[in-house]
Amino acid sequence: MKKKAIELLLAAAMVTTMLAGCGNGGGGDAAPSSGNEAEADADADAADDAADDAADAEADDAADDAADAEADDAADDTTDDAAAGGDMADKKVGVCIYQFSDNFMTLFRGELENYLVSQGFAKENITIVDGQNDQATQTGQIDNFIAEGVDVLIINPVNSSSAETITDKVMDAGIPLVYINREPEEDEEKRWQDNGWDVTYVGCDARQSGTFQGEMIVDLGMDKVDLNGDGKIQYIMVEGDPENVDAQYRTEFSVKALTDAGLEVDCLTDQVGNWQQAEAQQIVANALGQYGEDIEVVFCNNDSMALGALQAIEAAGRVVGTDIYLVGVDALSEALENVISGKMSGTVFNDHFAQSHSAADAAIRFINGEKNEYYIGCDYVKVTQDNAQEILDMVK
Ligand code: GAL
Repeated sequence: MKKKAIELLLAAAMVTTMLAGCGNGGGGDAAPSSGNEAEADADADAADDAADDAADAEADDAADDAADAEADDAADDTTDDAAAGGDMADKKVGVCIYQFSDNFMTLFRGELENYLVSQGFAKENITIVDGQNDQATQTGQIDNFIAEGVDVLIINPVNSSSAETITDKVMDAGIPLVYINREPEEDEEKRWQDNGWDVTYVGCDARQSGTFQGEMIVDLGMDKVDLNGDGKIQYIMVEGDPENVDAQYRTEFSVKALTDAGLEVDCLTDQVGNWQQAEAQQIVANALGQYGEDIEVVFCNNDSMALGALQAIEAAGRVVGTDIYLVGVDALSEALENVISGKMSGTVFNDHFAQSHSAADAAIRFINGEKNEYYIGCDYVKVTQDNAQEILDMVK
């Protein structure tokens, strides 16, 4: 309990720092802002790796790969290995989603259900519930799934910091567990390993998505982006849920990509939009009112918020690509259309096909009595005007 309280205080202190100090956008090396602070060194190494990988995985190649790995092909491939060991028709799957109204998680859960059915599960044996962004509600749903005796649980936690409690109760019930999208803390993942538990996490490394966002701005060139010619990039940051490592890493690594490229940055404001379009629209409208033409770049931790930012930008009479630049993450269809038409400078494909298929495959392996790695990753794909149509064709 005490440890939890301290963690919460630390998290709150970090959020306050981010809000007050605009992260570490002053131009120096950004300090890690994740809950896994103790692992700062490891983070830094992994970050460098992620940045290297990111550089290697040039946008075009990655887009080609992604296009090749169409959902159907992936489904065909995994039918053979994952489901081969057993018949899934009578197996029950409980799926907890943190909030149904989240656009990205809507794509994710739709694909997860389709894929589970393609792997032999009966639709009526797949139950997907809405945590309504409330951990107490979700905990009750997990209790119900345990009472019902599901064969496997797939959980997108409302609060990643609740993972310890969730894992304990699910392990006590002897049910294998696949976490998705919101990564539990490193100590928690280590516990799964130390105890040899049937628990895994499936997700992408958010550092890579942040790095891609920053690189897209760097690639535009200082001549274009430094609109006021002061030698610095003035930006605003719109963050997702601050408890979420995706938000923390995207905030940190987008800016780090600029400073790593030798650019000076100036954070005008850094605010929490909770992944929501309407909140982001309000934040960006206010920021445009306050900072006006000083804003050169708008970083949004996801596309829903970038769509809100775009509404505010257009309402203020500003034109993306001409007098302001805007990037998001997820590659929602609407955002991809905006990238194609130039209304967004870029986005990053958050591969819900790969993630949902990997989660289902891991669940099947657990049901079949096999083991999984404790972390199952995937790659993001940088999306600019060059490959946006290709990605749109794939996600549609
Ligand atoms: C992120 C995604 C966001 C939001 C969030 C929820 O990966 O980019 O749009 O869905 O997950 O945890």
